Amino acid sequence: MTTLAAGFTMGRVTTPRRPRVRPLVDAQAPAATGGHTPVLLDEVMALLRPRPGEICLDGTLGEGGYTQRLITHVLPGGRVLALDRDPAAIRRARDRFADAGPALWCVRGSFADVERYAEPLGLRFDVAVLDLGISSLQLDDPERGFSLRRDGPLDMRFDPTAGGITAAALVNTLAPDDLRHLLHIDGGEPFAGMIARAIVRRRALAPITRTVELAELCAAAIPRARWPRHIHPATRTFLALRIAVNDELGELTRGLDALIRLLRPGGRVGVVSFHSLEDIAVKRLLTRLSTTCTCPPSQPVCTCAHRATLSLLNRRAVMPGAAERLRNPRARSARLRAAVRLPDSEPRPA
Ligand SMILES: C[S@@+](CC[C@H](N)C(=O)[O-])C[C@H]1O[C@@H](n2cnc3c(N)ncnc32)[C@H](O)[C@@H]1O
Repeated sequence: MTTLAAGFTMGRVTTPRRPRVRPLVDAQAPAATGGHTPVLLDEVMALLRPRPGEICLDGTLGEGGYTQRLITHVLPGGRVLALDRDPAAIRRARDRFADAGPALWCVRGSFADVERYAEPLGLRFDVAVLDLGISSLQLDDPERGFSLRRDGPLDMRFDPTAGGITAAALVNTLAPDDLRHLLHIDGGEPFAGMIARAIVRRRALAPITRTVELAELCAAAIPRARWPRHIHPATRTFLALRIAVNDELGELTRGLDALIRLLRPGGRVGVVSFHSLEDIAVKRLLTRLSTTCTCPPSQPVCTCAHRATLSLLNRRAVMPGAAERLRNPRARSARLRAAVRLPDSEPRPA
């Protein structure tokens, strides 16, 4: 494997040799990787059809489930550029894919900055995929602060080494109305006002610093009879905070636009999202780029210069089937949308 670290100098990884976890050439390899079960993996591969010799982007490496499958499909001759903001995910991939050789570049960085990594290498992609959100390993590690059941610091940053605001800082400093707005809009929390008021009361006594403290506070703020049936009463609050801490919607909008610019003609892009706001953003962008005229329907003659650069591969989002939802409850809200770059489309300017 080739790692591109900060400044993306290419160099050989000198990790000690370890027994391979799984042979990279086995396209039928079981999907679960390092405690994370990839969601909609077969559906993603069926829509994006990576082929030998192709160049792929996995913008959200995570535990490498998609990357592993992409490598098996693009060999011989192809390569995968895998990005993740989380340094721990990159470290684990370094171990896991130590035998991948030049077929894999691993970079710690955001897919929103994909041009910064791809352009010096002259890369254009045949396949680009994003699998948004967090991995099971991140969720289950209390020290990362994503878990509402396992106590840890209220952090939630994908890359804790990059500075940036933590969930604790948001919870303890946001104005009451901004807090309510965040929980309501980003988290879709119907009791945002009650939770925001409870947070403000508590933080007046002492700063809120632990995940379980916040989870219990949210649960106490919502009348027991109104608790959601299938999720913890603090789930939406935690989701809203994670999205804000990592600017996930901003990164998605910037990143998707950038990676579509880097698609080769005939290149395929797919996004798996877990949140309705993400899915709406993906749907809007893919639909706009696959529409040839954006004039109002009432206008008889087209006056816009807009020309489609994409064609949708699925009109309705692909969702996990009952078997996958049963096997992996974390898959239940997943939505997959995909499109192909039209062969004769001009590259879009930034
Ligand atoms: C759902 S997991 C991906 C799982 C992966 N497909 C697999 O099969 O193991 C999402 C990953 O994306 C990473 N991530 C989130 N936002 C990112 C961004 N803007 N750029 C790069 N990685 C990001 C997270 O750190 C996490 O590791």
